[in-house]
Amino acid sequence: MMKSISFQNSHIIVYLIIFISCCGIYVSCSPNVSTTSSAFKCLPDQSTALLEFKQEFSFQKPNFSYYYYVCSTYSNPFYDDSIHPHSYPKMKFWKEGKDCCSWDGVRCDMKTGQVIGLDLSYSWLQGPLHSNSSLFKLHQLQKVNLAYNNFSFCRIPSEFGQLSRLTHLALSYSMFSGEVPSEISYLTNLVFLSLSSFKSYDETSFLYLKRVDFTRFIQNMTNLRELYLNQVNLSSSIPESLTNLSSLAFLQLCGCDLYGKFPEKIFQLPKLESIIVPCNDLLTGFLPQFHNSSSLKGLILDATNFSGKLPDSIGNLESLSAFCIQRCNFMGPLPSSIWNLSNLNYLDLTYTHFNSPDLPSTLGNLAKLVTLSLYFAQFSGEVPSSLGNLTQLKYFDISYNNLSFTKLNTISELPKFQTLALGSCNLGKFPSFLKTKDQLEKLDLSSNRIEGQIPKWFWGIAKKKLEILDLSHNKLQGSLDASKIK
Ligand SMILES: *[C@@H]1O[C@H](CO)[C@@H](O)[C@H](O)[C@H]1NC(C)=O
Ligand SMILES: *[C@@H]1O[C@H](CO)[C@@H](O)[C@H](O)[C@H]1NC(C)=O
Ligand SMILES: *[C@@H]1O[C@H](CO)[C@@H](O)[C@H](O)[C@H]1NC(C)=O
Ligand SMILES: *[C@@H]1O[C@H](CO)[C@@H](O)[C@H](O)[C@H]1NC(C)=O
Ligand SMILES: *[C@@H]1O[C@H](CO)[C@@H](O)[C@H](O)[C@H]1NC(C)=O
Ligand SMILES: *[C@@H]1O[C@H](CO)[C@@H](O)[C@H](O)[C@H]1NC(C)=O
Ligand SMILES: *[C@@H]1O[C@H](CO)[C@@H](O)[C@H](O)[C@H]1NC(C)=O
Ligand SMILES: *[C@@H]1O[C@H](CO)[C@@H](O)[C@H](O)[C@H]1NC(C)=O
Ligand SMILES: *[C@@H]1O[C@H](CO)[C@@H](O)[C@H](O)[C@H]1NC(C)=O
Ligand SMILES: *[C@@H]1O[C@H](CO)[C@@H](O)[C@H](O)[C@H]1NC(C)=O
Ligand SMILES: *[C@@H]1O[C@H](CO)[C@@H](O)[C@H](O)[C@H]1NC(C)=O
Repeated sequence: MMKSISFQNSHIIVYLIIFISCCGIYVSCSPNVSTTSSAFKCLPDQSTALLEFKQEFSFQKPNFSYYYYVCSTYSNPFYDDSIHPHSYPKMKFWKEGKDCCSWDGVRCDMKTGQVIGLDLSYSWLQGPLHSNSSLFKLHQLQKVNLAYNNFSFCRIPSEFGQLSRLTHLALSYSMFSGEVPSEISYLTNLVFLSLSSFKSYDETSFLYLKRVDFTRFIQNMTNLRELYLNQVNLSSSIPESLTNLSSLAFLQLCGCDLYGKFPEKIFQLPKLESIIVPCNDLLTGFLPQFHNSSSLKGLILDATNFSGKLPDSIGNLESLSAFCIQRCNFMGPLPSSIWNLSNLNYLDLTYTHFNSPDLPSTLGNLAKLVTLSLYFAQFSGEVPSSLGNLTQLKYFDISYNNLSFTKLNTISELPKFQTLALGSCNLGKFPSFLKTKDQLEKLDLSSNRIEGQIPKWFWGIAKKKLEILDLSHNKLQGSLDASKIK
């Protein structure tokens, strides 16, 4: 289905959607709650509590597509069945009389028969989770995952604070609202905490911290390995105490109204794998020198006020797979060592302003790139033919730089393009390399000097998957028929 197309004389103007794409990549919200059944039968009181818990809800597949994810302005990447596990009403299959330790999503202690794990993520739960819920009778719980259900905008019950054995708590994207209860801060054994949430259409957060600020909230959670608080309004600076969390590996704080300076020491934590803090426009910070011992895989700082120079030692981050600094305020030269990061899958330098960067032939080292976005990033010079080495590339946007692109044949060898944006790239004719690009979903050739008719073969390509096309500001002639496009 064509999503947006409009006509102006014979010029097609279709609005190019710029995805702030990075934030969706690293979202991993389910702790590994294993659901293997045990040989020991569960205790009657545990079974009763579980069945009561089941009675508290109706089962209706939630429709999250109304809700808003700030780091991807035009889409809601969280409700796409293609990237999410199969969702189904797990509890519907819980049957009295059968050993509850064998129920889908339930895990028992092998020795005691007590329920210690409950994974009801993506399980269609609908209705409020009350403070008198039977869930809180399961005192031995260590891992609870209730992500992606619909608790109908109720508060997060403060009773979670009494489940003192919890090591894993995932309540993300489950339609909770209001103040996050300070009692969660009593859970000092937590290794994994995810309270990430959608935002409403007016961009206000559904969840926030208030009585206990962020610093006190995590003060006693000294075992944290993974912390996900996407779109929870923290209205805070980042606590220095995070630098004391020697196990911290994943930190995700997208769109949390953070301000102040990001503590540089966090980058030195030995287990660190990803720092994902985009869409906090008042968050300032600098990147430190990096050592080759670092295991950092994701560094996503889009739409923050990180500034200063990028250190040359960024080339030491050999494991780095996502580096996204869209709309950051870095200055100075773009270190050439960046083209040594051969494990990069995502590189987004959109709206950055380094000192007249060029695209060297060492670009060909980044053979694993899936996304390369250099939209409006002041690059100049010739696109090197080593681009032909990037055979995994699906998203390629070099629009609005001062790049020229004479070796177009290198692109014809790249089969996988879904998004190709070559706005203002000095193209003189309709590119024939598009003949092989039948996976294209978005194509931007705006603001070039393309003359004449659109070749007939193009409509064969366009009919397949193309949803967004921008040919505006060229010298094209002839008429267009939207029915020719998917
Ligand atoms: C959640 O459930 C309520 C009813 O309790 C319903 O009105 C609402 O549409 C549901 N939300 C989603 C996201 O499905
Ligand atoms: C979900 O809501 C959207 C937005 O209102 C609607 O277009 C879509 O059809 C709904 N999907 C389902 C499966 O009900
Ligand atoms: C639990 O609390 C809710 C809301 O306060 C109430 O409607 C419900 O009757 C209570 N359930 C029980 C079993 O007490
Ligand atoms: C976050 O909370 C602060 C203080 O209450 C408020 O001013 C701000 O608008 C909130 N931000 C969002 C995105 O809800
Ligand atoms: C953290 O633990 C200390 C010592 O047990 C206690 O005094 C303090 O109140 C706790 N802080 C929070 C926010 O729970
Ligand atoms: C970090 O830990 C040290 C040693 O336990 C302690 O003295 C210091 O106050 C902690 N710093 C913060 C910011 O919590
Ligand atoms: C952004 O960072 C720079 C450099 O640290 C600072 O001078 C400026 O005040 C910051 N802007 C905002 C809005 O925080
Ligand atoms: C890291 O750098 C040190 C010192 O430069 C060097 O001795 C070591 O071999 C390097 N390690 C790796 C894995 O490259
Ligand atoms: C890139 O890596 C190679 C091999 O490790 C090294 O010799 C070279 O100096 C690096 N280039 C830059 C610009 O860091
Ligand atoms: C192309 O990528 C391979 C690794 O897949 C690398 O060994 C080679 O040097 C690259 N070639 C160019 C021209 O960059
Ligand atoms: C664009 O690049 C050309 C050479 O490739 C150079 O002559 C020109 O000055 C550049 N323009 C800008 C605005 O940087």
